Amino acid sequence: MTSADAKPFPHRHLLGIEHLSADEISALLDHSDAYVELNRRPEKKLNRLRGRTLINLFFETSTRTKTSFELAGKRLGADVINMSVEGSAIKKGETLIDTAMTLNAMQPDAMVIRHPDSGAADLLSQKVNGSVINAGDGSHAHPTQALLDAVTIRRRLGHLKGLTVAICGDILHSRVARSNIQLFGKMGALVRVVAPPTLLPASIERLGVEVHNDMVAGLKDADIVMMLRLQTERMKGAFVPSIREYFRYYGLDREKLAHAKPDALIMHPGPMNRGVEIDTEVADDINRSVIREQVEMGVAVRMACLDALVHQKLERPTDVAAA
Ligand code: NCD
Repeated sequence: MTSADAKPFPHRHLLGIEHLSADEISALLDHSDAYVELNRRPEKKLNRLRGRTLINLFFETSTRTKTSFELAGKRLGADVINMSVEGSAIKKGETLIDTAMTLNAMQPDAMVIRHPDSGAADLLSQKVNGSVINAGDGSHAHPTQALLDAVTIRRRLGHLKGLTVAICGDILHSRVARSNIQLFGKMGALVRVVAPPTLLPASIERLGVEVHNDMVAGLKDADIVMMLRLQTERMKGAFVPSIREYFRYYGLDREKLAHAKPDALIMHPGPMNRGVEIDTEVADDINRSVIREQVEMGVAVRMACLDALVHQKLERPTDVAAA
């Protein structure tokens, strides 16, 4: 299975997009493409992580991310353990570090963590021997989501460079927005953030994005319209006057979408709140909405990341193409 063109991947952990070069991102996307093909076959299993152990450690709820990491590990042949807060000693007052040290003693090769506090994945990575993958820490980062968004777009449009990507909604609390801003910036796309001033972080323009408070100007000629959920669980107090008013000014519907390019893609990381940030009609538009594809790409991207991190090598899964 070793191919001559394998390149080193000098990272043990995937904590954020900032640590990856544009070349490494491109290679991870290429490998994800190969895993998409594998995942579409009836027989989906490889042996690349056979004998390895992956622990999924989720301190926040998750449907897509947790399931896709579990499937990714299993499809590569690893043993996968899922731990969620409900069933763990965390409820009995054990700290993140105590839990991490306990799990580390069981010699996992990789740990995937989702946690409400920004910096939790980083902290964990300093305490354990295996690889740590950040599956979302507070409002800080969610690197595999940005990678799966990128692969979804690249498969549809062929490239990322030069695209205009409008990320709309609750930018302030969104780790998805932060990771995507970094990834698209590195890959040469123009990123616009579109939100009411209350949902934008201070000095956001320092991240190299165009800032808009109005959907008409923000969506103008955009290639990609990415909608975000209002992260009410991270809000203390009211950030929008009412849901109805929010939808009127910031919810994506046909009328607002008409300002984007005629073939613009509609994206959403999920979970969607229909009638809040997105209208059902555009969410389910079979020609332009790629929301289901994003979920499919999630498994492939996580396979590519697990493989690269555990082996510290970027190695094209050639047996996938050959089989
Ligand atoms: C996102 C997350 O958890 O940050 N969801 C996801 O990973 N698919 C976005 C969200 O929860 O709104």
